[in-house]
Amino acid sequence: CGAPASGKGTVAEKLVEAFGSVHISTGDMLRAAMEDPDNEDGQTAKQCMAEGVLVPDSIVISLVKARLSQPDCKERGWLLDGFPRTAAQAEEMDRLFLLPDKCVILDVPKAVLVERVTGRRTDPETGKIYHLKFNPPKVDPDDESEEAAAKATAETEAIVARLTQREDDTEEALAKRLEAFDSNRAAIEDAFSAMAKVVDGNRGKEDVWQSVKEFFAA
Ligand code: AP5
Repeated sequence: CGAPASGKGTVAEKLVEAFGSVHISTGDMLRAAMEDPDNEDGQTAKQCMAEGVLVPDSIVISLVKARLSQPDCKERGWLLDGFPRTAAQAEEMDRLFLLPDKCVILDVPKAVLVERVTGRRTDPETGKIYHLKFNPPKVDPDDESEEAAAKATAETEAIVARLTQREDDTEEALAKRLEAFDSNRAAIEDAFSAMAKVVDGNRGKEDVWQSVKEFFAA
């Protein structure tokens, strides 16, 4: 859990790599649903997301429930990213006995979130999240030859050229997303206090990951 752009997706990528669990990002599922013009829930989500307001609980809950009932979640375990986000969503998890072993709450000051949101870019081919200043694309050469260096530079340039920016990554939409986060934060922290740890997310990516990894190993 955490505010918009607090680093949930970035940490989730590392957790999935380390533990092999299924990454369930409600933001990603909603963005996939809105690609289909005939999907009514997807179109409702599209409007909510562009405005920076939360998508109705009923839509998000049914998406998550359907995904969690898939066999891979039962076999590999699951990692929820961006869910629950309201008291009603947390209550539904509790009602269905869908309790996580651990819950990480990323804490990042608002001023930092604005810079993270405006600089965020996504690679549509790989789904990888970058930041123009803090985490720009960089392909490492396979060896020390000039040829490998030139190939790595060309690949980096190709990634930079295809990067896209999310529609809701504007300062205006972020203000609304932060409002929604602030009004729900206490409910989420209360629901998971027994298994939650607040991690200082206002540090370098690797330092944040070390804290999360230690918490999961404990
Ligand atoms: P969602 O896609 O979940 O967006 P969000 O919560 O606003 O979070 P973000 O994806 O913006 O950020 P993040 O915390 O994953 O950060 P990231 O790792 O990308 O949801 C979008 C919308 O869908 C919501 O507004 C809502 O409308 C709807 N929705 C989703 N779930 C819902 C729910 N449960 N109920 C109702 N509605 C729902 O990092 C951000 C940037 O910072 C990146 O560029 C990254 O490279 C950089 N960065 C990350 N970590 C660091 C670091 N340590 N130092 C420097 N830079 C860093």
